[in-house]
Amino acid sequence: MKQYKIAVIPGDGTGPEVVREGVKVLDAAKERFGFDIEYTWFDYGGDRYLKTGEVLPENAVDKLKKYDAIYLGAIGHPDVKPGILEKGILLYLRFALDQYINLRPVVLYPGVDTPLKDKGPEDIDFVVVRENTEGLYAGAGGVLKKGTPDEVAIQESINTRKGVERCIRFAFEYARRRNKKKKVTLCGKTNVLTYAFDLWERTFYEVAKEYPDIETDYAHVDATCMWMVKNPEWFDVIVTDNMFGDIITDLGAMIQGGMGIAAGGNINPEGVSMFEPIGGSAPKYTGKNVINPLAAICAGQMMLDYLEEREAAAAIENAVKEVVSKHLKSLSAGKMGYSTTEVGDLVAKYVKEGV
Ligand code: IPM
Ligand code: MN
Repeated sequence: MKQYKIAVIPGDGTGPEVVREGVKVLDAAKERFGFDIEYTWFDYGGDRYLKTGEVLPENAVDKLKKYDAIYLGAIGHPDVKPGILEKGILLYLRFALDQYINLRPVVLYPGVDTPLKDKGPEDIDFVVVRENTEGLYAGAGGVLKKGTPDEVAIQESINTRKGVERCIRFAFEYARRRNKKKKVTLCGKTNVLTYAFDLWERTFYEVAKEYPDIETDYAHVDATCMWMVKNPEWFDVIVTDNMFGDIITDLGAMIQGGMGIAAGGNINPEGVSMFEPIGGSAPKYTGKNVINPLAAICAGQMMLDYLEEREAAAAIENAVKEVVSKHLKSLSAGKMGYSTTEVGDLVAKYVKEGV
């Protein structure tokens, strides 16, 4: 029997609540499809930081490297200054584990409400390939004359040929594997960020030559936002840098029904990948059993797909579709008509029984 070792980091806020439901669903999948998962739980997050003063233990990365994948809830604590945990845990792990792709599907499931007028599931089905270890997130820059009227803050975007190329290549491979519209759109800002996106654009069209079966397209980031709302059906795979990818995937989450269902994978194809709901720790809903666990459940589904447990992943996807179309009143916290636990139970039941 195949056995996977999964590191679980429930994290802060509603993270533990949604991860608990995710694990419930993974357990249902492993029983039905005949593989085993050994979970190891890590207490990284705000509470641990407040107790110990340490964001991550020194050996965290070495430890995490031993797992087949990492399953993360959320990072961000109301009593900790914004940035400390996000940079010290989430971004640190993405960088240290060289998870150079942040893969974020934007899919509208049948029965889910989208704010886009006249658009349905046949129109909203694409994936954003966000570069995940460079750009404005690299932390390059500094501040001059801090606190004075002449203060200058510099935040530089780092774009390396190797980093850009591996991301673009991943996007083309992904479009081929998806086998849908077979199209990759580069989202950039070549009219203003002329150093960075010149590199992106040249690399994009060079790599594209190796994929004659894949159509190419380009859109500036501002226009990308417009098209995502006006004509989302034009997109198949969007590839973009770290900052733009962060921004457009929040927009993506909204058009697919909200943060309650948006999941992502931080991928290192040669190393350890980390799967997470993209919605954050939602402190105001913590401990109330009202948060939507579907994003975490979908992150678990992405993790199984990544581990090549394709049948199990498909079963979770079908179960989620069943639950959103037949049961939930809304995908928003507190408005689902079901508690967090009940949503997890329903998905697990459909995974076990099939739909
Ligand atoms: C995300 C989040 C993170 C990011 C934050 C919490 C650092 O917004 O995963 O999209 O900016 O990448
Ligand atoms: Mn974000």
